[in-house]
Amino acid sequence: MTTVISNFQGIQVLDSRGRPTVCARMMLSDGSVHKATVPSGASTGAHEALELRDGETEISEKLFLGKSVHQAVSNINEIIRPRLLKLEPNSEKIDAILHELDSTSRHEILGANATLATSLVGAIASAHVRKVSLARFYQPHGALKIPMPMVNILSGGAHAAGALDIQDVLVIPHGAKTFAQGLTWVSAIREKAAELGASDGFMTNLVADEGGLGLPFASSDMACGFITHCIESVGLNPRVDVSLALDIAATQFYKDEKYESRSQGLQYTPEQWSQLLLALVATHPIISIEDPFAEDDWDSWELFMKQLPRPIQVVGDDLFTTNTRRLSRGIKGRSANAILIKPNQNGLVTSTHDVLTQAQYSGLGTIVSARSGESEDSWLADLATGWNAGQIKVGSTHGSERTAKWNRLLELEATEETVFSKPF
Ligand code: PGA
Ligand code: ZN
Repeated sequence: MTTVISNFQGIQVLDSRGRPTVCARMMLSDGSVHKATVPSGASTGAHEALELRDGETEISEKLFLGKSVHQAVSNINEIIRPRLLKLEPNSEKIDAILHELDSTSRHEILGANATLATSLVGAIASAHVRKVSLARFYQPHGALKIPMPMVNILSGGAHAAGALDIQDVLVIPHGAKTFAQGLTWVSAIREKAAELGASDGFMTNLVADEGGLGLPFASSDMACGFITHCIESVGLNPRVDVSLALDIAATQFYKDEKYESRSQGLQYTPEQWSQLLLALVATHPIISIEDPFAEDDWDSWELFMKQLPRPIQVVGDDLFTTNTRRLSRGIKGRSANAILIKPNQNGLVTSTHDVLTQAQYSGLGTIVSARSGESEDSWLADLATGWNAGQIKVGSTHGSERTAKWNRLLELEATEETVFSKPF
C-alpha cells in the first residue's frame, strides 16, 4: 500500500533565541510523524528570501513585538495543506507545488519560513518512505563524506552586542584524521579560550547567540592572536592541525561607502579596509575569510581576490544569499572562491541543493551553514553530508541547538561507511 500524507500542520514554536519560528508537522498514513523547524538569522542579507513575520498587523501577538509568525503558519494550514493531503511524500513534487503557489523570487506570498518548513519536512518524510536517513536519501551508495567543521570560538557583531567589530573568530581542525577527533580539538580550544579569557578578567560564563564567547578585544588582531595562543596552549599546532577562519559580516558596518570600526571609532575606505584585512591574513594562521566586504560592494571583493598574499578561502554569505543569480555573477567576476549555503536564505530544499551543485560544478568550496537563531533539529548535518558539501558551520560547541548538529555528524561517522572531508 502506498504511504500518503494524512495530515499536515504548521505550528508557531520558539527558536534558540526565544523568538517565534515556524515548525511544520507532517503525518503519514503509516502512522509516522515528521517535523522540521526553520532557523532565523540576525545578520541577514538584503537579498535573502523573505522571513514572514507579523509586524504590526491584526494577527500579530503584541508580546512578541511584531516577531510572531501566525501569518506564515496560517499560510501552511490554509494554502499549502489542502494541496498536500493524500499525496505521496515526494520532495521534488512538494517543492514544485510550493513554487506553483508562490513563484516570487523571495517567496513573498507564502513567506520563506512557511515554504522552507514544508519543503524540509517533505524531504524528511520522503527519506522515511524510502527507509533511509536524510543523508542517504541524497547519496544512497558509497562512503558518505563527513564535512569539515568550522567552529565559532569568539563572537562579536550582531551576535554579541558588538563585543568585537567582526562577527566571528572560528577554528577549522583541518589536520584531524576524523570528525570526532576534530570536534575534540575544537572543544578543547573553546574551553581553553574560556579559561584564559576568565584569567584576563573577562566574563566567560555568558555565551553569545551561537554559543561563542563574547570577549571584547580592542582589535581583530588581538582576537586572532588570542585564539592562536589557545590552539598552542592545548598542545596543537596552528597552520598544521588547526587554523583560523573569520566571518567579518562586513555588511553590518558598511555605511556611505565606508567600513566603520565601532571599537576603534574609525572609518575606512574600501581600499583601507582591504589593506587591514590583508595584513590580518598575512600575520595570523587564517585559512578562510567570510563576507570581508558588504553584500553589494562587488568591486572590493574582486580586487581582494587578486591581492591575496596566499591562496585562502574567501566565502560569500550575504554576498550570494544562496541565490543562483548572485552566485552566477560571483563566478563570472571571480568575487569569491567559496559559498555559504543557508537553506532559509533560499526558501526551498531542492533549489538550495541546486545552488550548492552549481557552486561545486564551478569549483567553489561549499559550506552548509546554520543560523544564529536555531532549533533542536539536526537535518542540516544530513543535508551537508548527503550533498557532499565539504564543510559545515553551525556555531560553537555550546548550546543543544548547536550540539544537535555536531552529535548527528558523530552518529553518522560512528554508524555509516564514511570518510572525513579534507577541503584544505
Ligand atoms: P546569522 O549569522 O545567522 O545571524 O545571519 C550567521 C552568519 O553570518 O554566517
Ligand atoms: Zn556570515
